[in-house]
Amino acid sequence: MNKEVAVIGVGISKFGELWDRSLRNLIVDVGTKAINDAGVDRKDIDALFIGNMSAGQFVKQEHIASLIADQLGLLPKPSMRLESACASGSNALRAAYMSIKSGMHDIAFVGGVEKMTDLLTSSTQSALATAADQEWEAFYGVTFPGLYALLARRHMYEFGTTREQLAQVAVKNHYNGARNPTAQFQKEISLETVLNSPLVADPLRLFDCSPITDGAAAVILASKEKAEEISEEEPVWIIGSGAGTDTLGLHDRESLTTLNATVEAARQAYEQAHVEPKDIDLAEVHDCFTIAEILAIEDLGFFKKGKGGEATERGETALDGKIPINTSGGLKSKGHPVGATGVAQIIEIVEQLRGNAGERQVKNPKIGLTHNVGGSGGSAVVHILRK
Ligand code: COA
Repeated sequence: MNKEVAVIGVGISKFGELWDRSLRNLIVDVGTKAINDAGVDRKDIDALFIGNMSAGQFVKQEHIASLIADQLGLLPKPSMRLESACASGSNALRAAYMSIKSGMHDIAFVGGVEKMTDLLTSSTQSALATAADQEWEAFYGVTFPGLYALLARRHMYEFGTTREQLAQVAVKNHYNGARNPTAQFQKEISLETVLNSPLVADPLRLFDCSPITDGAAAVILASKEKAEEISEEEPVWIIGSGAGTDTLGLHDRESLTTLNATVEAARQAYEQAHVEPKDIDLAEVHDCFTIAEILAIEDLGFFKKGKGGEATERGETALDGKIPINTSGGLKSKGHPVGATGVAQIIEIVEQLRGNAGERQVKNPKIGLTHNVGGSGGSAVVHILRK
């Protein structure tokens, strides 16, 4: 019981508008990469955990956990899909982690996948909006850019966060994404580009938004005994896993400038890992909109409430800053295939801790954190990893 859990293999696809790839093709490709990277025999994988928000709406295919087990040659192993909107991938990872912690499984496959670009943007946005409160939000026409615009306005009103500070999140994340070969947008942008881009939901503009993305990511988790048996290199360990929930509708929240689900998930993860925010060397946080990154770096305890915008403007979250945030390019530049995002965040931290992050490598990191939000904060998951 209470076993230690390692990440022993990773695989990720290029993120973007992948019209020549199908959902099954994407997940089989990354799954095979992760299995090969781990050096594990397929017959030794005990179970599959799949993160996916809405294959039913995006590509009209449900029951994908069985489909994926079949296509990966892993029948008849148990396979389940987990859904919590944009945090589906992290919850799949967390379920796999708990299954190994409990002693039920020794080796688990975690996959995240979403194929979002086969629909028109309006249909994709309606599908995404089913993760908001249908009766009190989506029914009235609000979509996720609109909900996060409300959070941004409130943060600006309460703390004086500026339009330029929001834009700086996008500039930084595009800088990092330009150094990530799997990112959707591999180009640097200027502050002016963000500030002059088309308005989507005031005050959020095109370059404040994560894009609509196809992509997949997979990791293999193993117990300490199995990891030491299989891996030649020292594996990366998961040392904390926390999850929290909140109301779906923004109108029921006590505050619009704190995501309580994040605060709760982080509290649990820090406690389990026996670390504090100051011990974290880098983090992948949920920047589905630029304001979301500012809320995250405050709610995770890296900066005081209301000071996230100023810290970003001072460069404290840049690649060479006090705490590099979203070295992968984040959801903004790397892309946001919703069910795959949580797994992709884990892969970025694993690659950074292994020292394999190329041009965007942070100097000698020891502890990394991932933070994944469902919808506008109805759920959040935080993981802490150590070399
Ligand atoms: N950032 C930067 N550029 C973007 C972009 C983004 N988020 N989204 C699209 N683009 C670019 C495209 O590459 C394209 O460029 P090109 O003309 O040089 O080829 C151009 O903008 C138009 O792309 P298009 O696909 O027509 O955009 P759109 O108007 O259909 O969609 C948004 C733009 C912002 C509405 C869409 O990306 C969106 O809905 N994002 C939010 C997704 C979301 O809510 N996720 C869940 C979060 S909780």
